[in-house]
Amino acid sequence: MKLSDFGAKFASDSGIVGLMDDLGNALRENPAMIMMGGGNPGHLPQMDAVFRRRLEAILDDPGQRHRLFGRYQSPAGDHDFRQTVADLLADQFGWRLGAANVAISNGSQSAFFTLFNMLAGRMPDGSGRRIHLPLTPEYLGYADSGLSEGFFTATRPEIELLDGDQFKYRVDFARLALGEDTAALCVSRPTNPTGNVLTDDEIAQLDALARARGIPLIVDGAYGLPFPNILFNDARPHWNDNTILVLSLSKLGLPGVRTGIVVAREELVHAFANANGILNLACGNIGPAIATELFRTGEILALTRDVVQPFYRARAQAAVAGFREHLAGLPFRIHKPEGAFFLWLWFDGLPIGSQALYERLKARGVLVVPGQHCFFGLDEDWPHRHECIRVSYVQEPDAVRRGIEIIAGEVRRAFDEAA
Ligand SMILES: Cc1ncc(COP(=O)(O)O)c(C=O)c1O
Repeated sequence: MKLSDFGAKFASDSGIVGLMDDLGNALRENPAMIMMGGGNPGHLPQMDAVFRRRLEAILDDPGQRHRLFGRYQSPAGDHDFRQTVADLLADQFGWRLGAANVAISNGSQSAFFTLFNMLAGRMPDGSGRRIHLPLTPEYLGYADSGLSEGFFTATRPEIELLDGDQFKYRVDFARLALGEDTAALCVSRPTNPTGNVLTDDEIAQLDALARARGIPLIVDGAYGLPFPNILFNDARPHWNDNTILVLSLSKLGLPGVRTGIVVAREELVHAFANANGILNLACGNIGPAIATELFRTGEILALTRDVVQPFYRARAQAAVAGFREHLAGLPFRIHKPEGAFFLWLWFDGLPIGSQALYERLKARGVLVVPGQHCFFGLDEDWPHRHECIRVSYVQEPDAVRRGIEIIAGEVRRAFDEAA
């Protein structure tokens, strides 16, 4: 098979594709595998019931049913839904938004592909531009999304050691030197993989830096406010006309409907919608159909506050307690869990490295994400990148407990072997 440059890049078996394959195939290969690697949200029966009720109401109404199945929406997405999202955000946070500031995508993953490649890569004057991650580790799903090589740059963070066994990454502004070729800054907040939430002050500084350079700040709010609100502190959401905020219905419990939402200034939304028309023609209707009424009535806010957030908060606390018990005596630290649904564990001096730990755990029936993949864009060889793993805690509590015991057992073995 002869492949183009595009084909060679996007059809190749990168390390990350291998990891995704593992995540996808693990259950078929080993039905007992404890899945602590993937990004699936937890299964919340109360949310399920709400989605089902909405879908049934739509299916029972011939007009709504036809709108759902029988129509293409415009490339920017369903106008009612865009207006409803704009109203919800304006109402909650006081942002000045209308439907023209909102575009829909088929999942936020595809929105990132379009946005990143619209802003960075080869420029009309022949120069190249890149997306900068002011704090690494970052979301693995960005890593291979650039059409050109060397698409991301990243700044190594400061590590703040917190009382006890926790730590927190901080943007290292002293190190953060933006090149002339920086096209945009991008952060996920809450951050996948670490559960970090960049502070309001960090966001304000990044906003100022981006403005001074005339480039946008992209904020990935897949786990943030106002939905799904998987946030355990009271960080303020951020948007202004230099910000591109990307939201998603996935972590509410709807990853299968593939709905992402881009909130940005009108000019950018217009450009995005044009690109979306070429790539996708139109977006799927099911996500907007389910969500519009929940957003219009504000029911979504009560659901995320009273159902979604408490579920993940309790799971995070139980997972931290489990690791503390089983890792006692080992050189471990847990990134302060401030949001999302992962724990990021750091084993200082881990003798076997995170990739070997991942493989040993897979052989023992537990799937995690080896942390080194999440440091893409960072040129320097920093031992820390081989000392961390990401562990999801959304599975059933019994499975998570068994997973924690196995992880702790393998880490202990690795340190004992080296002693
Ligand atoms: C930080 C972050 N951003 C974006 C996405 C993409 O989500 P989706 O395409 O389902 O909206 C994910 C999925 O795991 C994520 O963790």
